[in-house]
Amino acid sequence: MNRVSLIAGNWKMYKTVPEAVATAAQLKEAVKDISGREIVIAPPFISLHPVSQVIKGSNINLCSQDVFWEEEGAFTGQISPGMLLSAGCTYTLIGHSERRQYFGETNETVNKKTKKSIDQGLKVIVCIGEALEEREAGKTFSVLEIQISEGLKGLTPVHMDSVVIAYEPVWAIGTGKTATAAQAEQAHQFIRGKLKEQFDTGVAEKIRILYGGSVKPDNIDQLMAEKNIDGVLVGGASLKVDSFSRIVKFT
Ligand code: PGA
Repeated sequence: MNRVSLIAGNWKMYKTVPEAVATAAQLKEAVKDISGREIVIAPPFISLHPVSQVIKGSNINLCSQDVFWEEEGAFTGQISPGMLLSAGCTYTLIGHSERRQYFGETNETVNKKTKKSIDQGLKVIVCIGEALEEREAGKTFSVLEIQISEGLKGLTPVHMDSVVIAYEPVWAIGTGKTATAAQAEQAHQFIRGKLKEQFDTGVAEKIRILYGGSVKPDNIDQLMAEKNIDGVLVGGASLKVDSFSRIVKFT
């Protein structure tokens, strides 16, 4: 199955609006000749719309870092899928480990956000991954299994056309400890197998599974050489145009 590679940059809580706009403009120039792979950036909410103006018509897609599961209402501080679409987003991240760790995100809220986003027309990058204690206790696969079965509960194969999975072992995020390409490949194979059980072979073969956690210019080529790694979700190394564009240009 030929899956289009997807390289996503998660800017987390970095960059003011002018900084985000300037970075997007430089990135647009640096990757303008790239085709045949999908490039996605996820700036903070307030920079989404101004960045969308900068990248309009380019090969870069816009993504938010979170979303809420209602269309509108008295939910102070929240942002709906429709608002994100109106700001120029095509994607949203859902269930990033930092949201799970610090902001009470659960598999249930991941599920609600995922359904509503897809129904409203957004594509989603659903993040899953085990913590260090879970890996050390031999629970990696059971944690992934629950995150998949609960997070994607009630979705149909048609919904799944709008889903990308990001496997991010929590112990590898921002720590400089990357999973080896072989460790990542093993988890990706497991995830694809679970998706086949929960949905069908077509869904499992079509879906893109990204790896995330200390992806850098010096490990990208090795990661992308694995059969079941269809792209990466990059934090720290996406903040600088040099390193992110090198990652986008993996060989
Ligand atoms: P990192 O972050 O690349 O800085 O490890 C990855 C992520 O949190 O998506």
